Amino acid sequence: MSALPNLTPSASRGVDSQRNDPREKLIVALDVSTAPAAQKIVAAVGDSALTYKVGMQLYTAQGPQVVRDLVASGRRVFLDLKYHDIPTTVAAAVHEAAQLGVSMLTVHASGGGKMLRAAADAARANNPALVVLAVTVLTSLDENEMEKVGFRGTVREEVLRLAALALDSGCKGIVTSARETAALRADLGPNFAIVTPGVRPAGSSHADQARVATPAEAVAAGASHIVVGRPITEATDPAAEARAILQQIS
Ligand code: C5P
Repeated sequence: MSALPNLTPSASRGVDSQRNDPREKLIVALDVSTAPAAQKIVAAVGDSALTYKVGMQLYTAQGPQVVRDLVASGRRVFLDLKYHDIPTTVAAAVHEAAQLGVSMLTVHASGGGKMLRAAADAARANNPALVVLAVTVLTSLDENEMEKVGFRGTVREEVLRLAALALDSGCKGIVTSARETAALRADLGPNFAIVTPGVRPAGSSHADQARVATPAEAVAAGASHIVVGRPITEATDPAAEARAILQQIS
């Protein structure tokens, strides 16, 4: 992605403008398989987004250079690889992600307190601003599936329990559907990030997302960030779509 245009200087963050800039809340998911496809989306979005999610599809296909190029162009990267392994291995992976310059990354809360602590400590040692987010219960699991994999409570109970464990273990935030966002805020307070995917602009197609919220609903429920993929990446005019979403969360 070396041909990636840089963010214009006014598009990057001054400390004062940062607080009121709705782009601080928007993450665009780059769910594609090639660097040129990712580059095309990023160029089309232009200055309308600051942060991009690189997940297992793009990372597996193209490797860390995609991340390096985004960071070098002035964008922030949310590396969504959902680490889940023994603490030493996860800490080493978090160290490497920090070296790549990512701003946010994900781990599975069900990896346990020691793994979560190891991830949080490795992040802090490399970059105190790096946000380790815990994934609680995958939204693809219904209560029947949850029972089969050994979860005992309802989805909400499990999400709250795992979220509390992650925050107690030093993680700075949680990835969760809009459905659980308000309960998480109410139970666990204001001082952590909640990243909400499954966000659809009012009136748009839901694609395969079952539990959707509009950008405004997600933020009103307490999300600090929303992840939006296809509504922006597959739009005829991705920048216009991103701007419309920013307006809804301003
Ligand atoms: O295209 P769309 O907006 O549905 O993209 C949503 C992004 O958020 C995808 O990258 C997907 O992996 C991620 N995600 C999700 N639902 C979850 C967790 C993550 O859609 N429960």
